[in-house]
Amino acid sequence: MAIQELKPVFTEWTLASSWSTLSRRASKGNGMANTNSIDPHKVADHEHQAWQGAAPLYEEYISFMTACSGQLELVHEVSGISDDSVILDVGCGPGLLAAQLAPMVKSVMGIDFASNMIAEARSRFPDIEFHHADAENTPFDDHTFDCVILNYCAHHLARPERAFQELRRIIKPAGRIVILHPIQSRQACWGSFLKALLEELPPETNPSGPLLNIEEPEDYVSLLKSCGFVAAKCEVRVKPVEAESVNLLLTAAWAVTGLYEQPKEVQERIRAGTIMNTSQYARPDGGYHFPDEVLLAWAEVR
Ligand SMILES: C[S@@+](CC[C@H](N)C(=O)[O-])C[C@H]1O[C@@H](n2cnc3c(N)ncnc32)[C@H](O)[C@@H]1O
Repeated sequence: MAIQELKPVFTEWTLASSWSTLSRRASKGNGMANTNSIDPHKVADHEHQAWQGAAPLYEEYISFMTACSGQLELVHEVSGISDDSVILDVGCGPGLLAAQLAPMVKSVMGIDFASNMIAEARSRFPDIEFHHADAENTPFDDHTFDCVILNYCAHHLARPERAFQELRRIIKPAGRIVILHPIQSRQACWGSFLKALLEELPPETNPSGPLLNIEEPEDYVSLLKSCGFVAAKCEVRVKPVEAESVNLLLTAAWAVTGLYEQPKEVQERIRAGTIMNTSQYARPDGGYHFPDEVLLAWAEVR
C-alpha cells in the first residue's frame, strides 16, 4: 500500500498523541494521567483505528525504534524464559518480537487488537500462532503462559488495569509479566522530530491512554501491585536506536503524520528542525545513535 493512501489515519493518530503528550505534561507534570479526564472508549477507538492504518508500513518505517533496537536483551534479562517457556507477545504488531523469541522458547503466540497487524504477522511468520484479540479479553485458559510480554504496547492501552488483570489470569503461578515502555520525554529519535513538529503546529487535545506519560519506576511498581502482581520491579534503561540516515526518521515521521498536507514552508522548517535536533546524535560514520530511554517493568504471579 502506498504511503499516500494512509495519510488521513496517520495525521489524526500521531499528531494527536504528540499534542496530548505536550499538553498533559504542561498541565499536570509527569506521571500517571488523571484518569477521570480520559474516555476509554474514545482512546480504544482512536488507537484501534491508528494501528489498523499503520500495519502495512510498520515494519519498514517504525520497527527500527521499537522491535529492532535492543528489546530482546532487556526481555531476556528479566523474563526468566528458557527453552521450556510458553510465551505471549501482547500488542504484537506485525510479530517481529514474537519471531525473535521463537527460537529461544518452547512456543510463542501473539495477540493484537488490530486485525491488519495480525494479518501482517501471519503472512510474515506463518509458523507462529497469532490471534486477533484485545489484551482486556483474551481467548486463553487460566495459567497458560510462563511469560507475557508487552513491548511498546502498554502506553497505548485504554484501560491498563483491566488489561493487566486479564493478563495476570492467563499467566502461570510464578510466571512473569514484562513491559517495555518508552519514556516519552526521553525518546531521542522520535523526540527529535516531535520537538521540531511542536514548534510549528499547535497542541490540541486528543484521546490517549492513562499510561502515556508515566516516567517514574515507582508508578509502574504501584500499578502492577494494584493489579495483583507480586515482586514488581521497574528500572529506567537506555535502549539505543541506531539509524543509518536521518532520512529513515524523516520518512517515518512524514509517513505517520501526514505532514505532506501542510504548507511546503512548514514542512521545510520541521524537516530542518528535525535534522538540527538529530545532529547531536550523529555517529562518525554518518549514521545516528539515539540513546532512547525506556521503563523496563516486570512482576510475578503468585
Ligand atoms: C507501537 S505498536 C508495538 C508493536 C510491537 N509490540 C512492536 O514492538 O513492534 C503497539 C501495538 O499495540 C496494539 N494494541 C494497542 N492496544 C491494544 C489492546 N488493548 N489489545 C491488544 N493490542 C493492542 C496495537 O494494535 C499495536 O499493534
